[in-house]
Amino acid sequence: MGTLCDITILKIGGSIITDKDADNGIANYDEIKRIAGEISKHHGKLIIVHGAGSFGHPQAKKYELTEKFDAKGALITHESVKILNYIVVESLANAGVNAIGIHPMSNTISENGRIAQMFLKNIHLMLGNGFVPVLHGDVVMDTKLGTSILSGDQIVPYLAVQLGGARIGIGSAKDGVLNDEGDTIQTITSLNFKDIKQYIGGSESTDVTGGMFGKVVELLQLCEISGINSYIFNAGKIGNISRFLDGANIGTMITK
Ligand SMILES: Nc1ncnc2c1ncn2[C@@H]1O[C@H](COP(=O)(O)OP(=O)(O)OP(=O)(O)O)[C@@H](O)[C@H]1O
Ligand SMILES: [Mg+2]
Repeated sequence: MGTLCDITILKIGGSIITDKDADNGIANYDEIKRIAGEISKHHGKLIIVHGAGSFGHPQAKKYELTEKFDAKGALITHESVKILNYIVVESLANAGVNAIGIHPMSNTISENGRIAQMFLKNIHLMLGNGFVPVLHGDVVMDTKLGTSILSGDQIVPYLAVQLGGARIGIGSAKDGVLNDEGDTIQTITSLNFKDIKQYIGGSESTDVTGGMFGKVVELLQLCEISGINSYIFNAGKIGNISRFLDGANIGTMITK
């Protein structure tokens, strides 16, 4: 068993593994299979977090889960994203990865939309024993709101801090964070963020957790509190996930 700092946390965006323009759960099976193949070549400790895409955002929007408590809507959304998690885990298993689905609804409590507590002892043990935990954006119980939406983009930095450091990659549908000319911004820090934030928006599709802007804010906060860098890159380009897992720094780096 190595130290915990050699952990990699990879988020796979819902914009890649689902048809994010659909209004109800459509999986991109071919992409999921390709990505599972790239992940299967990696041998270090790895946590996968996947987004919800059309298995969560349209449902959360329909039941206005970011505005009000709705038990039925919360359950429909949770059940939907669990189906996507099952598809991802099954595909990883078919590629030879010892993947295990972990549903945030079952191990996390939020307060006003921010993670207050997540049970991590099983995740520690899984990493030590060669399992690959696969978490996802989910609906979770919330001490103030009843339930709230927990974005995969919030789970990734939380895990990195709690596990004492990790290499972080956020795979999405663009080559990184793009500027007004569509070029990839190489580095984002809290200093240049003030100038470039005008170019960073939500999602082109339905996204209840802030799209690209939400990601950058989470990751800037992460490096402010912990010094951990992260990379936002295009997971839709063949080989990019392998490249990232092999140690290449691709896409946009978020750093201090
Ligand atoms: N400056 C920008 N650079 C890149 N993408 C941007 C920018 N501004 C807005 N976006 C949008 O943000 C989207 C990425 O965020 P989104 O939350 O939709 O993806 P995801 O994380 O892959 O999906 P999910 O939330 O389902 O996991 C891009 O596809 C694009 O539409
Ligand atoms: Mg998103």
